Amino acid sequence: LEAFFQPRVLEGRKVLITAGATFERIDAVRGITNTSSGKMGFAIARAAWEAGAEVTLVAGETALPTPPGSRRIDVKSAQDMLSAVNAEIDTQDIFISVAAVADYYVLNQSEQKIKKDAHILTLELAPNPDILASVACRPRPPFCVGFAAESENLIEYAQAKRKRKQLPLLAANLVQSAMGAEDNELILLDDAGEHKLPRAPKLDVARQLVTHLARLYDADHP
Ligand code: CTP
Ligand code: CA
Repeated sequence: LEAFFQPRVLEGRKVLITAGATFERIDAVRGITNTSSGKMGFAIARAAWEAGAEVTLVAGETALPTPPGSRRIDVKSAQDMLSAVNAEIDTQDIFISVAAVADYYVLNQSEQKIKKDAHILTLELAPNPDILASVACRPRPPFCVGFAAESENLIEYAQAKRKRKQLPLLAANLVQSAMGAEDNELILLDDAGEHKLPRAPKLDVARQLVTHLARLYDADHP
């Protein structure tokens, strides 16, 4: 019921969200992935819908149920996620990149299951495209919100990321406090500085993030 009392600060806006972890195949039964439950991204999808947005959720592998109001597109690899984002991005007002995208894919993938032997197995890894950076550097980008997952030097690394990807808003979180947890705390970085969202259930944090981004979006679109 609480959902219906949220201010409709994103009424009519189209919001695209990536969430969860991508998965890079090694062979028929194995792969490389990141640690991510998808909970933060799914909470943001729900909060954006509560705020009146039309939400498209591009999701990596997760067992989470689809949040109410989201149109969900399931993907596996970072390349799949990029293709799904590219197919949707032209019509979006806001892009929120919450996914833990694998930074590398396996070059020497095997169709068949690799059999074990006593030798050292070497995987060749090549860099994946940066989905968020590719959206943010478009000629007329949607309003882009990034996340930064850091294990140390949170503010310094996150500021550098915001600058490098040219993002109006970035949410920084420490992996130690966010991963797998039901709660999270975020530091929002924008042109005005730092805003701390204190530790709370992920849906509460997501609602505050939505409120903050809607204010910035409206200031940009008078
Ligand atoms: N991101 C993305 N595509 C990638 C890598 C990251 O869209 N291939 C997005 C994430 O969804 C997040 C932001 O970029 O919004 C930062 O991701 P993060 O992994 O923290 O930073 P990286 O730029 O990948 O740098 P590093 O992992 O070296 O810290
Ligand atoms: Ca990364």
